[in-house]
Amino acid sequence: TARTGDVLVLFGVTGDLAKKMILPALYRLVARGVLTVPVVGVALTDWDDERLRAHIADCVHAVESEVDADALARLQKSVTLVAGDYADPDTFTRLAGAIGPTAFAVHYLAVPPALFGTVADGLAAVGLADRSRLVVEKPFGRDPASARALQARLDAHFPEDRIFRVDHFLGKEPVEDLLVLRFANTLLEPLWSREWVDRVEITMAEDFDVADRGSFYDAVGTVRDVVQNHLLQVMAYLLMDAPLSDAADDQRDAKSRLLKATRALDPAEVVRGRYDGYLDTAGVAPDSTTETFVAVVLHVDDWRWAGVPIHLRAGKCLPETSLEIVVVLKPPPRALFGASTPNRITLRLQPDAGVTVTLLAKRPGQEDVPVEFPLGADFRQVLGPVHAPYERIFADALAGDPAHFARMDTIEEAWRIVEPILDPGTEPEPYARGTWGPPPPWSSS
Ligand code: BG6
Repeated sequence: TARTGDVLVLFGVTGDLAKKMILPALYRLVARGVLTVPVVGVALTDWDDERLRAHIADCVHAVESEVDADALARLQKSVTLVAGDYADPDTFTRLAGAIGPTAFAVHYLAVPPALFGTVADGLAAVGLADRSRLVVEKPFGRDPASARALQARLDAHFPEDRIFRVDHFLGKEPVEDLLVLRFANTLLEPLWSREWVDRVEITMAEDFDVADRGSFYDAVGTVRDVVQNHLLQVMAYLLMDAPLSDAADDQRDAKSRLLKATRALDPAEVVRGRYDGYLDTAGVAPDSTTETFVAVVLHVDDWRWAGVPIHLRAGKCLPETSLEIVVVLKPPPRALFGASTPNRITLRLQPDAGVTVTLLAKRPGQEDVPVEFPLGADFRQVLGPVHAPYERIFADALAGDPAHFARMDTIEEAWRIVEPILDPGTEPEPYARGTWGPPPPWSSS
């Protein structure tokens, strides 16, 4: 079994992700008694320990309505800062001193991906690579070749079982719940195939624009930002065969097999969109062809799904913020009561997780006219609140549980799937803010 971290090292401790997501998550882990080891922050900054501790208090107060002062003080006391440049060997010598001669460290890289290799080299140079785990944020590469090059850089120092690649959607409880809903019940699984499913719809909508992330987003676009990683991981959980066991690698084998069976995207079945005004965003190139919306048809060529189209769309400036899956069933063999809508199983993952099955019943009155009614539950109401994804990610990274991190083979498969639609160089279709984007490729079929 994997070694538990004796110390957590957070590269990029003064950065934006740390501020908004990571430091508040660490505070909640301390409050829950899950995080008890020392934390070493690393950043290129002129701050000292005290300044960092004050910053942590600010970050926690900014997102928590009620702060447990005791827990906050414990987190602050456990944190020290190593300030320095990641390209400077001396930074790593001082880091090694802060970690001590025998501790097993978990290094979390909340830094730009261009620095992942530099940090890995720096850790190895002072002998830390042999007794640590490396946790890297997304994105992992920007195409198949760069992902493989990054991997080669990391695995020069770290074996696969000590490289954890973050996809924060895998830390979302409603995403993980897809496996429980599918495989702890007997109700759904018999329906979950080409036999009964007409099509599957996956929608990730965000009602906000790229705001101050223009220069980041313009180099990325929707396909790289959320499809290659988050949404293909979600699709794999949704459609994969049952894993042999609950073990991390059995789950990841099942996902990998599903992605292997997924055909590379056909540009003829892709619509790319750009919301009006995107080009005026600070950091966006005036001649940008980056998409802010994409709708694609995926095909999984395996025994279970052959012939069932997967309609997937994602975008910014849409009418709402949500992540939703709709499994549309086939109609009954004969329409005895006239035309009616097909049964649908809706799995809502965000903002409020839940399930709704849409069935038909007779409309009260003399005639046999079918009318839809929903059967469903809101999980927050019936099951209570869930933990935030970064709590899960840090707890698992410290414990050494890789289940909710992306294995290299799934990342490579995902890049293979999206590669044909990366950077087509064509103008995306315009759409007005607050609409569902340009007509998707399936709208005419
Ligand atoms: C990030 C993307 O990975 O995921 C963002 O870079 C996106 O563009 C975000 O908004 C969505 O994550 P969440 O957890 O807020 O749904």
